[in-house]
Amino acid sequence: MPENMELSEFKPGTKVAFIGSECYPFIKTGGLGDVMYALPRALAPMGCEVRVFLPCYRCIPEKYRSQMKHRGSFMMDLTQDGRSFFVGIMELELDGLIYDFIENREFFDWGNPYTGLWEDIPKYCYFSKACLAALNYLQWVPDVVHCHDWQAALVPVYLRTRFDGTPVGNARSVLTIHNLRFQGICTIDHLKYWTGLPDFLFDYAVFKVNDREANMFKGGLAYADRVTTVSETYAEEIQTDFYGEGLNGHLSYHREKLHGIVNGIDIDIWNSRTDRLLTAVYGEENVLAAKAVNKKALQERLGLTVDEGKFVVGLISRLTDQKGLDLINAIFEQMINDEIQVVILGTGDPRYENAFRYYESVYPGQVCAYIKYDESLAHQIYAGSDALLVPSLFEPCGLTQLIAMRYGTVPIVRETGGLKDTVAPYNEHTGEGNGFTFDQYRADLLLKTVRYAQQVYTEDRDSWNRMVVRDMEKDVSWGLSAKLYLRLYEELKG
Ligand code: ADP
Ligand code: GLC
Repeated sequence: MPENMELSEFKPGTKVAFIGSECYPFIKTGGLGDVMYALPRALAPMGCEVRVFLPCYRCIPEKYRSQMKHRGSFMMDLTQDGRSFFVGIMELELDGLIYDFIENREFFDWGNPYTGLWEDIPKYCYFSKACLAALNYLQWVPDVVHCHDWQAALVPVYLRTRFDGTPVGNARSVLTIHNLRFQGICTIDHLKYWTGLPDFLFDYAVFKVNDREANMFKGGLAYADRVTTVSETYAEEIQTDFYGEGLNGHLSYHREKLHGIVNGIDIDIWNSRTDRLLTAVYGEENVLAAKAVNKKALQERLGLTVDEGKFVVGLISRLTDQKGLDLINAIFEQMINDEIQVVILGTGDPRYENAFRYYESVYPGQVCAYIKYDESLAHQIYAGSDALLVPSLFEPCGLTQLIAMRYGTVPIVRETGGLKDTVAPYNEHTGEGNGFTFDQYRADLLLKTVRYAQQVYTEDRDSWNRMVVRDMEKDVSWGLSAKLYLRLYEELKG
């Protein structure tokens, strides 16, 4: 892809509806929430008109709920037996961008966004159809509907069936895969009932998985005009058995319309020069001194031995097997030595939560397992650590390594998906690279890589420090990738 696309190449006024299940600062459980926030903000100054459609979950903070304005409501039929459901549209403008929240108490007024597949399938069938109905209701016809992950995967299917011949039926669709692990699989009967979609869609080319089951993501991938995923390497990987989560054949079949576009991060939120959550703000010119201050503050806050010389390794992650935690678990006790400290921030699978709590109890002052979701502590760990661990089993893109680099924290990653595309391995001979990497999913390789990183930190601090500055200077913004999306939208618009 050309690096030198000029903004003047783009015609202003392309209209895009973003449709997804989460978006910072309203609701975020992982990187999808970051992308739904940051990509529209990168597109808007390029002349793209974006509106973001989200479910109106009860757990959205009151400070945003209270600012929402009622834009209208209507009834919409949904199920096979023709039951009608209420659709309310609540609107909020934040920093010049419009967010439309689909309101329905039956689906969104209780629990967390994701409450288990049995309830989530009806919830997101409803949501996908309601977004298209809302676009017609608002008389805002986008050029492109840009749908994200399985929760919005029915949008391209509804667009070409139930909404064909209506105003929004003129839009084209892009479906982005943020994580293929989650697909929205249930019985054929359940999906038929909740979508009310015709029988011919329940064959192998669209929803059908086997004689019993149907798959929402599979149907969306078949019907979308373009499919993107969040790094070029993951776009290749998902066409293989190991990473394809059962859809590799389907994705290879549709590969002509599959593109990898790497994520960026919002460089205003993640800005070490202005970050109010840090003890010391900094840029490349004073990173070393400021990092020492932030490290001390982090050690104090988390009850670790306060010592500037320790090699502090952070881990900020959903605690799931995706993130390579089995490798960390396998080598944890060998990795620990007197000069290393490990800080874990995350929630998720109880077996990992408990393993990390156990290590904290065995290594007091040296290991901290902070089993919570905590935005402000995340900022402090990114700034106060020397290295950040991301040894994922698979990683579509990964944002934590990008944030780490922006904060001058050296990533230690496995070469998979977006980690491979964004972290160039350190080369001690040429002095190039952004982090420490290993290829196969093997605990001994992770251990070797952490030891190597610690050795460079301890014995060759000048090289380490140059890498810190290189990482801070690396462009991890949405700049280029937003242009690639805009070009894709324009191609579709014709
Ligand atoms: P994924 O989407 O697979 O969870 P990403 O690396 O794309 O992984 O994005 C994770 C995002 O969630 C980052 O912004 C990271 O800082 C944030 N995050 C993950 N766990 C926590 C936590 N426990 N507290 C605060 N932020 C977290
Ligand atoms: C998913 C992936 C992660 C990616 C994020 C945003 O949650 O697990 O790798 O960065 O989506 O695209």
